[in-house]
Amino acid sequence: MAKYKIAWLPGDGCGIDVLDAAKIVLDKIGLDAEYIHGDIGWEFWCKEGEAFPERTVELLKNVDAALFGAITSKPVKEAAAELIPELQNQNLLYRSPIVRMRQLFDLYICLRPCKAYPGNPLNFKDTIDLVIFRENTEDLYSGVEFNPVPEKLSDVLTELSKPFAKFKDVPNDQYAISCKINTHHGSERIIRAAFDYAKKFNRKKVTVVHKANVVRATDGLFLEIAKDVAKEYPGIELDDANIDAMTMWLLKNPLSYDVLVAPNLYGDIISDLSAQLVGGLGFGCSGNIGKDLAVFEPSHGSAPKYAGLYKVNPIATILAVKMMLDWLGEKDKGDILESAVADVIKEGEVRTYDMGGDNTSLDMAEAVASKI
Ligand code: IPM
Ligand code: MG
Repeated sequence: MAKYKIAWLPGDGCGIDVLDAAKIVLDKIGLDAEYIHGDIGWEFWCKEGEAFPERTVELLKNVDAALFGAITSKPVKEAAAELIPELQNQNLLYRSPIVRMRQLFDLYICLRPCKAYPGNPLNFKDTIDLVIFRENTEDLYSGVEFNPVPEKLSDVLTELSKPFAKFKDVPNDQYAISCKINTHHGSERIIRAAFDYAKKFNRKKVTVVHKANVVRATDGLFLEIAKDVAKEYPGIELDDANIDAMTMWLLKNPLSYDVLVAPNLYGDIISDLSAQLVGGLGFGCSGNIGKDLAVFEPSHGSAPKYAGLYKVNPIATILAVKMMLDWLGEKDKGDILESAVADVIKEGEVRTYDMGGDNTSLDMAEAVASKI
């Protein structure tokens, strides 16, 4: 029996291409693993009305880790229109499978390292080395949303909230509410994860990203907890910035930042920005990490127009594999893989279209494998 069971979740679009590339690298590195395919993605939404079918949920209960490609998602109405005729009248609501997976398995840490590998023509600066900790289960992603707004809810808000007065006479189908819910527990554990990481890897500073001056209840809570947690980590500087200013500072002075921690939506935003600083989404990798399961993925979407063309840069996915190896406790293999990636980037002989070359995803994977 293999040492590890890994769920293999290509999804759709270019997710399939980049996971094919990842397999080349994994085979070369010789991880003692069984890879078990899981159905997930747009085709299952259209055929079954569920992009993340129950059988795949069950599979994830029985694996050590998962590698996930990408999934096409569309706004609710467009998604409903693509269901097979038999499912058209059932009022099915499209839900993002990856968001659901994060919540279902309590994958509360979204870890997104953004490190520049020298020689990449797309680097903003060759020495950028940021690590983002994004809260992954709550905040504006809680899924508590109303459109139209039920009468009951507007009555309660009229009673409890002064600022709500200006909305109370708006017809209920003329506004919508999405709730930003942040718990003490959820905030504290992601902030602690960021500080633990900083301590373990000798990082000097943790920057909390928020908008506590305006979004006082939830972001205020997040910031207060960060101040408390920071007291337990002498030697690590606590820094904080508003999300708007943060986007500017990250562009202006990316080298001044080290570890960043943010509630879900701000983390989503700064992780795309930071990925661009180190070459774009072709280089952004992501780990969704819980207590019992972790799911690794490139941060990019499914890029449907490139599906099956093997055009997309697989480095983001290959770096996600490196994160998976580290998480499984196979750090030696993870280090070998990372230096193979660094070598290929430095040599610059194999480059995908985003890097100005015309190599395929598979060429890139073969080049990395050849350095292992
Ligand atoms: C990400 C993505 C997802 C998110 C989408 C695909 C739902 O942007 O992983 O950053 O918003 O979390
Ligand atoms: Mg995102």
